[in-house]
Amino acid sequence: MTQNNNMPSEKAANTPADKLTAKQAKAEHARLEAEISAHDKRYYQQDAPTVTDAEYDVLRRRYEALEKQFPELHSLTSLTRKVGATPSGRFKKVRHAVPMLSLGNAFSEEDVSDFADRIRRFLNLKESAEIAFTAEPKIDGLSCTLRYEKGKLVQAATRGDGAEGEDVTANVRTIKEVPETLKGKDVPDIFEVRGEVYMRRADFLALNERQKKEGGQLYVNPRNTAAGTLRQLDAKITASRPLRFFGYGWGEASELPGETQFEVVAALKRWGIPTNPLFKRCESMGEMLKHYRGIEEKRAKLDYDIDGVVYKLDRIDWQERLGFVSRTPRWAIAHKFPAEQATTIVKDIMITVGRTGALTPTAVLDPVTVGGVVVSMATLHNEDYIKGIGGDGAPIRNGVDIRIGDTVKIERAGDVIPKVLDVVFAKRPNSAKPFKFPAVCPACGSHAVRETDPDTGKQDAVRRCTGGLICPAQAVERLRHFVSRNAFDIEGFGEKQAEFFFEKGWVMQPVDIFTLEKRNKKLKIEEEEGYGETSVRNLFAAINERRRIAFNRFIFALGIRHIGETNAIRLARHYLTAEVMIESVKAAADRESDDYQELLNIGGIGEVVADAVVEFFKEKKNRQAIDALLGEITVEPMEAVKSNSPVSGKTVVFTGALEKMTRDEAKAMAERLGAKVAGSVSKKTDYVVAGPGAGSKLADAKKHGVGVLSEDEWFRLIGEKR
Ligand code: IVH
Repeated sequence: MTQNNNMPSEKAANTPADKLTAKQAKAEHARLEAEISAHDKRYYQQDAPTVTDAEYDVLRRRYEALEKQFPELHSLTSLTRKVGATPSGRFKKVRHAVPMLSLGNAFSEEDVSDFADRIRRFLNLKESAEIAFTAEPKIDGLSCTLRYEKGKLVQAATRGDGAEGEDVTANVRTIKEVPETLKGKDVPDIFEVRGEVYMRRADFLALNERQKKEGGQLYVNPRNTAAGTLRQLDAKITASRPLRFFGYGWGEASELPGETQFEVVAALKRWGIPTNPLFKRCESMGEMLKHYRGIEEKRAKLDYDIDGVVYKLDRIDWQERLGFVSRTPRWAIAHKFPAEQATTIVKDIMITVGRTGALTPTAVLDPVTVGGVVVSMATLHNEDYIKGIGGDGAPIRNGVDIRIGDTVKIERAGDVIPKVLDVVFAKRPNSAKPFKFPAVCPACGSHAVRETDPDTGKQDAVRRCTGGLICPAQAVERLRHFVSRNAFDIEGFGEKQAEFFFEKGWVMQPVDIFTLEKRNKKLKIEEEEGYGETSVRNLFAAINERRRIAFNRFIFALGIRHIGETNAIRLARHYLTAEVMIESVKAAADRESDDYQELLNIGGIGEVVADAVVEFFKEKKNRQAIDALLGEITVEPMEAVKSNSPVSGKTVVFTGALEKMTRDEAKAMAERLGAKVAGSVSKKTDYVVAGPGAGSKLADAKKHGVGVLSEDEWFRLIGEKR
């Protein structure tokens, strides 16, 4: 990346926030926002974090420091106002009656005493006043809220973005430790138990053993496994993996069974909710820190992962007075354990393929104990990291690469995947060879490429599999895309069904959707839960209806990198038929060819997009998948844009309830005739086509003196009969 004034230089990133200019701060804030958002997405939606908590915290603290120094950066969309990322959309959404928040972090004893001082100041207590806190381990799982009504479990939900989570009731009901009914006479009418779902280490190891035997994918750590297990669409899978639960708080409650944190947690225990045995009430700072050290010592022997100690102000009335700052309560804090390091040997380097096709290297290690946990894998981030090249292209570890056989220093910061920090070069065996990163996808054998930014000539750090349509690692994601609203949009076969049919092994690639009916004698979909004879018949009818598909939708559905709806339309308009496009794009694999030049000459298609298209069609396996699909469906040729139509070059706005065409159809028709369709009326608008109920846009048309047409007048204008 080249540096200019808008780009935060390395120097700016290391400068204290109060020494930055407003411009530098703004640029760095934007960069951090993008980076943190990407990490949030990987953590919350994909259960695949790529940084340790410690690294994440550094980014987050810097982001917050910038906002403190430059309050104008604390906008309404700032990440400091959100918790986590938006939920992933596979389950029914649940809006939390009381938001599920996050915790601020303390990294030292000083941070903890600052936290207590802030509380004293807020409550106007004497500096010397001792205040009681509860202290308990911070469980490395995922938070979950369990709603009990009249003592019965009625709903369970994940945190999601804090305001809205996912309904995982069916899955939570499979957790043996979570009671269906709360016992005791003092159970309130409504009570939401909040706590952590987690997996024991022993259960995690046993599960991985099983996966190894069955040749399945190995899980990285108990936390990710717990998260993946809780969010299984098939509750039977959840039931087959032992999840556990610790309750530590509450959400909506018609009544509280006590006046202190300690009393409420004691009530949870009485009612039958598992609570942590190391939960303790501490009367002073000294006692809190002593308990922290005690827990740290026990950490290695615990059968579950923890990454710190949570302190909560004991008095609930004080908690209420203190309230929250954006995403975290003022009355609670997580005192994190420091990251732990160890030295071991790299036995192998394993490449896994993510759901979006990214190839990620992981070091398989000689098992070593780090902070009481046996670590046998560590992330190597990407190809460049192995080579000793950092994200900015500069050498890291003095340019020393990582090889199989190397002795390396690893770090484990509590929860996420441990990482390889450094190489002990002196211990490198003579036989160690530089690692050759594979150029083919280990999951499907398709070729894997790194994109190059044409402006900077810099390669993307991530190498990606190009076998989008057939790669088993990406299949679910691609199928979900294939059936999405702006792609094939099959009624009764949405993203959820795509996953369901995939998990069943019935639909592994797009063509399989169209052969379901033929195969149903054997599959017997009607016998599945939620299906009957009629719904299966309807499903097949809906599938058959999509055997004819618009060319642009077809291109979009393929899920080619960088090909969204707009680029799909550009390609469709240019090539007009699928056959012509496929032949030409195949020939474009030769970058010297006219076909490649033709692709590049399409308005709006740059080098990165052109290369993505070429790479996709270069992969034989994708072509085979498309050929199979074309055997089942017909792609309608695109009508050429008419340059001699009466609306060619005009700007049109459609408004009101159109009666003779859908909004999408109207747009497509106008564009086919060479018109531009806009969303709002301005003086540049040539026509407003208004159906019944048109509102403010009509007024705008009057204001700007723009001609208004009825639907009939529109058809007359373009010379079409309806
Ligand atoms: S209390 C308003 N207690 O840590 C306070 N959280 O970093 C809400 N966690 O989202 C949280 N153990 O998933 C609390 N003993 C504990 C916890 C705990 C683990 C998790 C929880 C929370 C996250 C915040």
